[in-house]
Amino acid sequence: MSLVVVTGGSRGLGFETAKALKALGHDIVLVAKDSARLAQAAAELECDFRSVDLEDIDAAKKCFDEILETFGTPEILIIAHAVMSAKMSKTLKTDNAEWRRVMAINLDSVFCALNILAAPMAAARSGRVIVFSACLGRMSGPGNTGGLAPYRVSKAGVNALVRNLAHETGLGSRGFIIDALCPNHSRTDMGGPDAPLSAEDGARTAIWLATREFDVNGATDQEKLTGLLWEEMKVVPW
Ligand SMILES: NC(=O)c1ccc[n+]([C@@H]2O[C@H](COP(=O)([O-])OP(=O)(O)OC[C@H]3O[C@@H](n4cnc5c(N)ncnc54)[C@H](OP(=O)(O)O)[C@@H]3O)[C@@H](O)[C@H]2O)c1
Repeated sequence: MSLVVVTGGSRGLGFETAKALKALGHDIVLVAKDSARLAQAAAELECDFRSVDLEDIDAAKKCFDEILETFGTPEILIIAHAVMSAKMSKTLKTDNAEWRRVMAINLDSVFCALNILAAPMAAARSGRVIVFSACLGRMSGPGNTGGLAPYRVSKAGVNALVRNLAHETGLGSRGFIIDALCPNHSRTDMGGPDAPLSAEDGARTAIWLATREFDVNGATDQEKLTGLLWEEMKVVPW
């Protein structure tokens, strides 16, 4: 059994991913903010949890340090926490506080989670990181085409962070892999009740990335590619 840390694991796509990995026999630590909701999710999965407000990067660092000290180096890190930006958050309508809130939660704390938890994984030359991004953050297709500026730009930053770290760690040649994914519009608190995909559907690519056979010399793209953005188990342009 190996250790899986799931941020944003109290509900939505993080919870669905954690549930599937728990069913495969992994030890899970859920991370989220609302301690009552988190405790309930952890009770359902019979797993550990840590509550922290990831908007506060010092608190985030302390929490990830403590997880490392208590549970050891994860084999799998799932980063699924995020917030949507305010409804009318076009660039010229967004104030500093909203910009900072979304960047702190969606981007700064992703850096912190990688910096603290992925560092020993990379050093151990073992492990994989899966980061929930969003199509809205792409520099192509439906990405960055206006509106929801803090959210879209934070996810573009997440994409850049993932790609950069993947290159820094040898694109899978040193036993450590990191990938981002677009889950697509799914029925969660963020996605809303009318989204076309269920939460189970939205978690599918993350679960696949966490469990796929990986070999840099593999025969298929699904086996050998990493450091990329995935949607429905296929690579999509950043
Ligand atoms: N759902 C979609 O349609 C969709 C589409 C594209 C991309 N995504 C991405 O997929 C990921 C999962 O989304 P989701 O739909 O599952 O979202 P969700 O249902 O809104 O859940 C968000 C999760 O993030 C945690 N979180 C938010 N703010 C936090 C903070 N300040 N500190 C600690 N934890 C915090 C929440 O914890 P609490 O319960 O404690 O608040 C919760 O566990 C996100 O990265 C999202 O951007 C979702």
